[in-house]
Amino acid sequence: MAREADADDGAAAESPRDEAALVEAIAAGIAHEVRNPLNALQINLGILRQELAEIVPDPGSHVFEVVAKIAGELRSLDNFVTEFLRFARPPRPRFETVPVRPLLESLVAFIGPECARKGVSLSFLADGGPDVVVADGFQLKHAVLNLVLNGLQATPAGGSVVVATGGDASRLAIEVRDTGEGMGPAVLSHVFDAFFTAREGGTGLGLPIARRIAEAHGGTVSLRSREGEGTVATLALPVRPVSA
Ligand SMILES: Nc1ncnc2c1ncn2[C@@H]1O[C@H](COP(=O)(O)OP(=O)(O)OP(=O)(O)O)[C@@H](O)[C@H]1O
Ligand SMILES: [Mg+2]
Repeated sequence: MAREADADDGAAAESPRDEAALVEAIAAGIAHEVRNPLNALQINLGILRQELAEIVPDPGSHVFEVVAKIAGELRSLDNFVTEFLRFARPPRPRFETVPVRPLLESLVAFIGPECARKGVSLSFLADGGPDVVVADGFQLKHAVLNLVLNGLQATPAGGSVVVATGGDASRLAIEVRDTGEGMGPAVLSHVFDAFFTAREGGTGLGLPIARRIAEAHGGTVSLRSREGEGTVATLALPVRPVSA
């Protein structure tokens, strides 16, 4: 029996043998069965809007509000599918030598305007750790972005979010510190569960994705928080040579 289960034949490839393979199979199904019709809906809605504009002269007409609402809902669904696929089928990291400071500074520059709009100060603090790491720069940035967005979303106007580097020659620690609402132990114990969210409009995939990315690099993501005081999210990566 064991030999049959272990046999590396076509049947084994078709029947998922563990949870990861099952999630992968579901993701492939969603990619095909949901994303394709979704794209078709978006394209057709665009055509409908154009043709409506030819027969309905008033751009303020109610029908355009309806079309805009449908487009908005389709966009939300598309974002959800994209995030889900990123969670379920994380691409293997493409390792390269990544200068840490420019990567984080560009991230801060990218998200800065959104923080300013909300009245939250965002800053970068180089406080130790290696100058470069071997990592997938795009994935690393995505993971830190998820932590920064969480900090921003939890922080009211007048508060701050700081992205700080630390660690030593063998370990890079990127801390995202916010002065936001924080969390109690009940929320904290679930934040890495897929689809767990305590935020209106949240998907609950930001932290699971950040953790998967960190783990694919041999690293970790952890959170410390005090309700009413703020949160520190830490992404830690080992400094390692390029692997084959
Ligand atoms: N810095 C933070 N301060 C307070 N609560 C936080 C913080 N970071 C995470 N959380 C809590 O953890 C939950 C899960 O976070 P996660 O990033 O996984 O999902 P989300 O932010 O709800 O949705 P999204 O998929 O858009 O990121 C959040 O809903 C929030 O309740
Ligand atoms: Mg989030």
